[in-house]
Order: sequence, then structure tokens, then C-alpha cells
Amino acid sequence: MDASSENPARLLLDWYDANARALPWRAPPGTPAPEPYRVWLSEVMLQQTTVAAVKDYFAKFTTLWPRVEDLAAARDEDVMAAWAGLGYYARARNLLACAREVAARGGRFPETEEGLRALPGLGPYTAAAIAAIAFGRRAVVVDANVERVVSRLFAIAEPLPASRPLIRSRTETITPEERAGDFAQAMMDLGSAICTVREPRCLLCPLAGACEARASGDPAALPVKAPKKAKPTRTGRAFWIERQIAGVDHVWLVRRAPKGMLGGMRALPDDGWAARRDGDGGEPFSGRWEPAGRVSHVFSHFALDLGVSIHLGDRGEAAGEGEWWPLERIAEAGLPTLFAKAAQLALAHTGEVT
Ligand code: ADE
Repeated sequence: MDASSENPARLLLDWYDANARALPWRAPPGTPAPEPYRVWLSEVMLQQTTVAAVKDYFAKFTTLWPRVEDLAAARDEDVMAAWAGLGYYARARNLLACAREVAARGGRFPETEEGLRALPGLGPYTAAAIAAIAFGRRAVVVDANVERVVSRLFAIAEPLPASRPLIRSRTETITPEERAGDFAQAMMDLGSAICTVREPRCLLCPLAGACEARASGDPAALPVKAPKKAKPTRTGRAFWIERQIAGVDHVWLVRRAPKGMLGGMRALPDDGWAARRDGDGGEPFSGRWEPAGRVSHVFSHFALDLGVSIHLGDRGEAAGEGEWWPLERIAEAGLPTLFAKAAQLALAHTGEVT
């Protein structure tokens, strides 16, 4: 069956008109496009992250910084702290760099894919998504949902990622001239609600009649994925150091180097673990240290097994560039998830939180 002769775009847009998810960064189907700032912000947040995880962050950012100029004028540390927990922190650094570049251009985002690609942090997917959704440009938008839908629609049996060029060219054949933004988001919604990884709901699918994988009987078998490489495990240690200052309990927090893992984020001092090596295990100063337990955290390219050690007493020393942070305000420090877990362990161990 030739999927393009069924006009999948028409079928899909009709389905989207009735079934589009209402999301805070979207305009309802067929209505004027949302502000480019909101589209850009949501697309950057949604890279590698789920819609459910993004919603609260999107609300927080648009409340704190309603326009791109507001975000551009924000302090780096406030933006990094607001991003804490969303992961992939290079995105937050690029987000700020991009906001500042757009603000310097008078607050207007470029409207073409090419112009958007030139901004910090915008890859081919994000540039295409913004061009289509915010500016109504015909752009070929391919995310993981679209890859799945198109692999099935055209029964592409070649494994990912080698099949990407073919998926892209097939997506290009079905992308309409008009409503390219709605089309892209319709594909995403179809992939998330109907054309799911396991047990796709083909009976509800507007493209079922055109779907070559369905015709061949086992749509869930596609897309084929090349086996993933096993992730290495790294080990490291983080240090919980308290000090009483004017009768108030404080903990030593550092600011991580701007580049590299969790770059620019507030953190507990640690032993220098990195994506490619274990930490050296060494304590920042001699004294009495006690293990509080271990935290596991999976990053994109490795897993980390982090021991948390507590300095005993309330007269700890500073360790590296940082600040004494009041314990009762630890939730406001903007610690990334790894160190938030480590802090929780330390607090439970010292009896400050149970
Ligand atoms: N994932 C990435 N962009 C999205 C969007 N605009 N709507 C829903 N899911 C998405």
C-alpha cells in the first residue's frame, strides 16, 4: 500500500482537530500560533524529557520570566536553580545564551530553520519544530514519536539509527504545505497516545488504513533498534560538611565548573568523579568522616554510584569555591537531582530530616 496516496496529512489533521492535547505552550488546532518564546522554551525543555515532567518547569519559567528579555536579564544562578531537577544542564546554559542573543536582536526569534539553527543550543529537530509551530513554516520535524509513526507507516525495517535518513525523507513526503506545526504536533500526539511503543491502539488510529506495518500484522515490531551499548558505572564520593555560624546550621555547597557534568550547578563538594573516570575517593580535609550511604544515578552515558560521607561535628571547613548555605533553606539551593538525593541521605543520617 502506498501511504502517500491516502493523504496521511489530511487524515491526521482531521484527527488532531478533534483530539489535540491541550498543553500550556500550545495554541488549539487551527488558531494563530503561540508566541515564539513559549514554543522555543517548551521545545528546549522537552528535549530528552517528558511532557509530564516539563509542565511545572514551564509554568515556573514563564511566571518568573514572561518574555525572552526577562529571561535574558535573569542572573545565571537563578536560571540554573530554576532548572534544577530537569537534567541535561547544558540545555539551561544554552537556554540563557540563546535568550541573550535573541534579546540583543530586539527580542525577535529568526523565522527560518537556518536562522534558528544558528542560535545556541538549537539542533535540527528544535529549529524545525519552532519554524513549523511558531512561524507556520513547512519544516520536517522528526522526534522519537515521529520516528516510530513513520517507521510503521512505511514499514521501515532497517534498524535505528541507520534508518534516520530514510525516515526523514519519508516524513518529508507526507509533511503538508499548510499547518506544518499542527501536523508535527499531531504526529507527536499520535505517537504518544495511539502509536505507542508497545500495543499500539491501531483501532483508534486515523492512519490505520494506510499503515504498511499494520497490513503486515506486527506494527509493534517496528522500529527496530540497534542494541544499546551497556553504560559504564563510575564511582565517586560526595561530602556533607556542616558548620554552625551564629547558632545556625549551615552546609558547604560549591558551584560546579561551568563546563562538564552538571556544569554551573550548585552541588556538594565531591572527589572529582566525571563521565570518563572514577573519583579519587579523597576527602577534602582530614578529620572524622562517616559513611551515610550510597546514591545511584543514571546519566545519559554512564551510571554513577556515589558514596556520601559526612564530616562529624559542626565545625567543618570550606572545601573548594563555595558558600555556607543555611540548612533550613536547602530546598532553595537548586541542587540537581543527584545531589538532592545525596543531601536527603545526609540529612536522614544526621537526624535533621527523617
Ligand atoms: N515533544 C516535543 N515537542 C512537543 C510538543 N510541541 N507537543 C508535545 N510533545 C512534544
